[in-house]
Amino acid sequence: MNKYEKFVETVQGHYAENGRHDLAWRKRPTAYKVLVSEIMLQQTQVVRVEEYFDSWMKSFPSLNELANATQKDVLQAWQGLGYNRRGLFLHRAAQVISKEYRGRVPQNYRELLNLPGVGEYTANAILAFAYNKEAVLIETNTRTAVIYHFFRDQNQVKDSQIRAILEKCNQYIDDYRIWNWALMDYGSYLKQTVGNLNKKSKTYAKQSTFKGSRREVRAKIVKALLVKSLNKNQVKKLLGETEHDVDAVLADLVKEKTITKEKQKYKI
Ligand code: ADE
Repeated sequence: MNKYEKFVETVQGHYAENGRHDLAWRKRPTAYKVLVSEIMLQQTQVVRVEEYFDSWMKSFPSLNELANATQKDVLQAWQGLGYNRRGLFLHRAAQVISKEYRGRVPQNYRELLNLPGVGEYTANAILAFAYNKEAVLIETNTRTAVIYHFFRDQNQVKDSQIRAILEKCNQYIDDYRIWNWALMDYGSYLKQTVGNLNKKSKTYAKQSTFKGSRREVRAKIVKALLVKSLNKNQVKKLLGETEHDVDAVLADLVKEKTITKEKQKYKI
């Protein structure tokens, strides 16, 4: 057995014993469930997404129902998941798929990459999890697993090095869906036991602090406007002291169409 086969066996063995088999988006996966969960999971922890996923599916049971929902309903349902833009991207992606692909999530990497909010990782995740197609997924958990087994004594490990290993492993895989679930679960388990090896990754990005950030100001404004429309002074009063330029934040939110401005009032 070569080192790739051994790694595959370790990962699959861990999954058989300790895999997260009960995650809602892994049960009878559909392309829509995969799209929703992957966008939710981009920067939000699994435990948090678990709290939101089922109620999202009740509110928007199908891709076409999501496409036809109002932006307000989508943002309302997204509250608590963080980064409202991701919720809006998901909404817009559903609209594009509904209109241009008759409601069917594309099975082709290039078409997936063109969807709002879908980058390389998410496109590959959809190929693997929705369609069981060959794909290499590089994210925090899979990086941890590969670094632990192949680059333990190295710093500044590049994603291209991680990709090369995972491409080799794919030669020994017949079910890409299960393999990638297993790899994620194994990486997540390693993080809990040996610590976050991602610091050895060149791409390692620490989550920025929310408290006091511009992102927090944005989130507060969106949350308030979901309740009622406000003018600029009301928004400023609500935010109180902040080092951030509220005028600029409002202008950004309008520009990216998260909120609108009508007769001096901001609204969603
Ligand atoms: N299962 C499928 N996608 C996942 C992800 N991004 N994180 C954790 N578990 C997952």
